[in-house]
Amino acid sequence: MKKNLLKSKLQKIFIKHQLSIKHSGICADYLIKAELMGAQSHGLVRLKMYCDRIKKKLINPKPKIKIKKISSSISYVNADNSIGFVAAEIGINQAIKNAKKTGIGLVAVKKSGHYGLSSFYAELAVKKNFMVFCFTNAPPALAPHGGKKTLFGTNPICFGAPTGKIPFILDTSVSMINRGKIRRAHKLNLKIPFGVALDKFGKITTSAKEALLGSQLPIASFKGSGLAWMVDILSGVLTGSSHGGKVKDPFDDFSGPQNIGHLFITINPKIFIGKNYIREIKKNIKIIKRLPKAKGFSSILYPGERKSKIYKKNLNKDIFIPSKVLKEMDQLDAI
Ligand SMILES: NC(=O)c1ccc[n+]([C@@H]2O[C@H](COP(=O)([O-])OP(=O)(O)OC[C@H]3O[C@@H](n4cnc5c(N)ncnc54)[C@H](O)[C@@H]3O)[C@@H](O)[C@H]2O)c1
Repeated sequence: MKKNLLKSKLQKIFIKHQLSIKHSGICADYLIKAELMGAQSHGLVRLKMYCDRIKKKLINPKPKIKIKKISSSISYVNADNSIGFVAAEIGINQAIKNAKKTGIGLVAVKKSGHYGLSSFYAELAVKKNFMVFCFTNAPPALAPHGGKKTLFGTNPICFGAPTGKIPFILDTSVSMINRGKIRRAHKLNLKIPFGVALDKFGKITTSAKEALLGSQLPIASFKGSGLAWMVDILSGVLTGSSHGGKVKDPFDDFSGPQNIGHLFITINPKIFIGKNYIREIKKNIKIIKRLPKAKGFSSILYPGERKSKIYKKNLNKDIFIPSKVLKEMDQLDAI
């Protein structure tokens, strides 16, 4: 489907679900951006889930979002159960504003929901020449190291830095693959890779259905479990949001709003070394890229490079929508 046609269709669907024109546009843009970045796990397959939660009044379509100033650098956002995209965009923009004044911005967001890819928000900060950390917690998917039951989310860690060219954006879940890939595989009857998830009996599985009933594996064993815990503390405990396994799964827990927390930290990269920053980061990347390559590699990519290339390549192409997802969209449009 052509991008503008898709944007107006999505915007119309969100407006029909009572979101404002502005908020509908923000949501439509982020869903399309996920598709263009090759992250279909966080794109159109999630549209129905967001709409279902709005219909059940678990996402507030008309939130009264409040920003409390704690200091010139620190702000606290109460997102009033808004859709995550809108809450996170407000949060990161406030963190950018704060860092412009003081060199560093720290913004906590509470009462939010699933916000898609962390890199959406990291990019906004990097485009304004700030370094950035974005954290969000997510519903139970991983068992803590030594535990039997899922509790931590796939809790992504995202760090961005301006490079003068394509930004460095490391944006990774702390699980072997993100949960959206498993959800999408389940919806489209696809297998998941070997070695990323266990079934409910603790056996490795390539069935998406069994993996959703079982648990996902963290990256690097207890280290990944530790990182997931860290993100739960930063995004959940520190921000006054749900934590300790209490974030509700947006797809199958309709017992209340998700109450997800996000934490954004923005840093002016010139605070210590002034305008030498760009020279030094370029030097750093050059040194690493010039290293001799391992067998099977023709280049060393930095995080964000590959996704940026995919995005640029897809920008002028039509977006492929699986027939099952297209049908859902038409049904949502018909209400
Ligand atoms: N909102 C949520 O609750 C939630 C939860 C989990 C994940 N997510 C999102 O899902 C997205 C995907 O997560 P993922 O874990 O599947 O990421 P991924 O495995 O696709 O990529 C992880 C990181 O590795 C980098 N990378 C990939 N290939 C590389 C290469 N060849 N060389 C160097 N670097 C490379 C990427 O740029 C990225 O920064 C992220 O954007 C994340 O924010 C969201």
